[in-house]
Amino acid sequence: MEKINLLVLSDDIDLRIEIKDLIADEAFAISGYSGFTAEGKTKTVNKFPEIVLCAVRGEVSDSVFSFIQELLTVARGTIAILVNDKIDVDLVNKAAQYGIRKVLPVDGIGAQEFSENIKTVFALEKQRVLDNNEERRVRCKAIGFFGGKGGTGKTTLAVGVASQLARAGKRVMLMDLDLQFGDVVMALDLDTKYSVVDLVQDRGGITIENINNFSVEHSTGMSVLCAPKSSEYADFVTAAHVERIIDIMRPYYEYLIIDLPSSFNDTTITACENCEEIFLIYNNEIFSLNNAKVCYTILDQLHQRDKIRIILNKTEKSLIRAQDFEEMFQLPVFADIPADYSAVFMSVNKGQAITVAQPKSPVSKAISDMTDKIIRIHTGIEPVKAKPEKKKMFAKVKKK
Ligand SMILES: Nc1ncnc2c1ncn2[C@@H]1O[C@H](COP(=O)(O)OP(=O)(O)OP(=O)(O)O)[C@@H](O)[C@H]1O
Ligand SMILES: [Mg+2]
Repeated sequence: MEKINLLVLSDDIDLRIEIKDLIADEAFAISGYSGFTAEGKTKTVNKFPEIVLCAVRGEVSDSVFSFIQELLTVARGTIAILVNDKIDVDLVNKAAQYGIRKVLPVDGIGAQEFSENIKTVFALEKQRVLDNNEERRVRCKAIGFFGGKGGTGKTTLAVGVASQLARAGKRVMLMDLDLQFGDVVMALDLDTKYSVVDLVQDRGGITIENINNFSVEHSTGMSVLCAPKSSEYADFVTAAHVERIIDIMRPYYEYLIIDLPSSFNDTTITACENCEEIFLIYNNEIFSLNNAKVCYTILDQLHQRDKIRIILNKTEKSLIRAQDFEEMFQLPVFADIPADYSAVFMSVNKGQAITVAQPKSPVSKAISDMTDKIIRIHTGIEPVKAKPEKKKMFAKVKKK
């Protein structure tokens, strides 16, 4: 199960530290700290945590209550919990009026009890959303398709998964950050002259309006931000640009699918650091196994190990099995996609995702299952199956 993301808001730095100590539980991930400020609001919108813990010592002012109320309007679906040292009936009632789900004490409560209380609030809210059939806006998940070895199927799978997510009704941005040799534009036969380089060079800056202007809308409904057509433009895009682009996109998409090159460089590392998950795409052969080991070690040194998911692609009968990867990394293989050269070849020639061009192929079936798994883990809800598309719907769409 996914960790529950918490954002801690408090103007009191010492109190933030106390809260951090109280939520030392595996079930939670702290996505950041801030005060009751504009930055706190931006962080809430961008990171879209499941819970904001609003901590105050002493009297809770009206301005803090108003701040929380406003926060809950802009980040609909986030749960607010107030943490205070002087809880009485008046405070609890007032908190409820402002949409706060629970008031927790900061003193005289152990870490376990504190965590259990938050988990209960979260579980009740989840059940309420399910019971009322409400569609909760889910936090954006960024997934990097990576691996230190060329040609393992990163692009094929990124395009396939992004298309399936879009067909399941999710808001998806597919971003080609293989800045030198990106070929998403070809894989989807997109008709656009713009790329991420136009975005970072535009005088208007990296804004959501410009992201819309320079990305292209695919007929599945997903947006695609392409890599530059020529490799000499790759250096125009810096790590800072990548971080900002991801940050700006987050509130507007449920999934950012990022196709990466097979090498570590500043932009790739930054993309990995800003993703929730890194899908390492490998084949079941000895060079892949060896490369995966090196890649894993580097990502571990970069403190990215927890994000790693191992995906095997083009699996064929071989001496190297999924089990060898699992034993080496002590991780279950997240998805195992078989090889089907003729089906993939046909989809490439048509400029369509394999799941669209060859829906009955075992590759498409495996990509579809992998996508369902991503949605299930992310939302905790079984996804609705995508309907088969009429072929003519997949004509290219030009945006600008
Ligand atoms: N499951 C599969 N079965 C058969 N062929 C596949 C499969 N997945 C990918 N391919 C083929 O393998 C080749 C490499 O795939 P792809 O371009 O997706 O890899 P990549 O990891 O993105 O490569 P690069 O490192 O150059 O970016 C392509 O010709 C693609 O059509
Ligand atoms: Mg590629």
